[in-house]
Amino acid sequence: MTNDQPVLTASHLHKAFPSRRGAVAALEDVSVAVRPGEFLSVVGPSGCGKTTLLRLLAGLIAPDAGEVRFNGALLTEPRAEIGVVFQNANLMPWRTVADNVRLPLEVEKLPSAEAAGRVQAALSMVGLVEFAANYPHELSGGMQQRVAIARALVHQPKILLLDEPFGALDALTRERLNEELLRLWQTSHKTVVMVTHNIREAVFLADRVLVLSPRPGRLTAAIPVEIPRPRKLSLLYDGAFNDVAYRVRQAIG
Ligand SMILES: Nc1ncnc2c1ncn2[C@@H]1O[C@H](COP(=O)(O)OP(=O)(O)O)[C@@H](O)[C@H]1O
Ligand SMILES: [Mg+2]
Repeated sequence: MTNDQPVLTASHLHKAFPSRRGAVAALEDVSVAVRPGEFLSVVGPSGCGKTTLLRLLAGLIAPDAGEVRFNGALLTEPRAEIGVVFQNANLMPWRTVADNVRLPLEVEKLPSAEAAGRVQAALSMVGLVEFAANYPHELSGGMQQRVAIARALVHQPKILLLDEPFGALDALTRERLNEELLRLWQTSHKTVVMVTHNIREAVFLADRVLVLSPRPGRLTAAIPVEIPRPRKLSLLYDGAFNDVAYRVRQAIG
C-alpha cells in the first residue's frame, strides 16, 4: 500500500430513490478515499446501497449531494480509466467472446490491429485466449464472468469496480475466480473496489473492508486486513483470517 493521493474519492454522498412510500435514502453521507493500487472491499446486507455506491463511483449516476473525484477531477460521467463489472455478465449471445470484449472499443474507431491487440491482451489477463472464437452459450458461468472482466479491462482502466461479479456462481468456482482476481490485481497494479455480501470473500481479497449498514446506507466501519500476500486459499481455514472475518461480521451487526 502507498501513501499517495487517493485515486478516487467520494465525499459526503447522498442518494435517494423515489418509491411508492416516498423517497428511500439509499446512501447517506458516505465518504470513501480509494488509494492507488488498493484492493478495497465493500460489504453489507442486501439493500444497503452497495450497488448504488459503485454506480456513483463509476460516474453512471449522479449523487443528490456530495461529489466523486477521479485523480482530483470531478467525475460527472463514465470514463475509460474506470472499468465496471456487474453481477450479470450481460454478454451479447450473437457475438463471439472476442467480439464481446471488443465492443467498448467500437465507439473509439481504433485501428483494427490495435483493437485486436487490446482484445487479445484483455483475454490473456483472464486466461481465455483459447476461447476467443467461442460464443457465450458455450462457456460456463464462471467463464462468462471472466469475459465480462476482460471487456472491462479492454480500455486498460486504472480502476476496476466490481459489483458482486461472482455472486451467481457456485462456491468452489467462486473461490477459484477470487484467487485469479488476486493474481490479476497483483500483476496489473490496478486499483480495485469490489462489492460483495460475502464477508469471507471480502476479507480474503482486500487491503481494507468497508462496512455499509442499511436504511439508510451508511459506512459504519473500515477494517484493515493486515494479512500478508500473496494469499492462498488455505488462508480461509486460518485463525488470523477468521479473526478479521469475525470483526467484519461484528461490525455489520
Ligand atoms: N434505480 C432505483 N430506483 C429505485 N430504488 C432504487 C434504485 N436503485 C436502488 N434502489 C433502492 O436503494 C436501496 C439500495 O439499493 P442497492 O444499492 O441496489 O443495494 P445493494 O446493492 O446493497 O443490495 C434499496 O432500497 C433499493 O431498493
Ligand atoms: Mg447490489
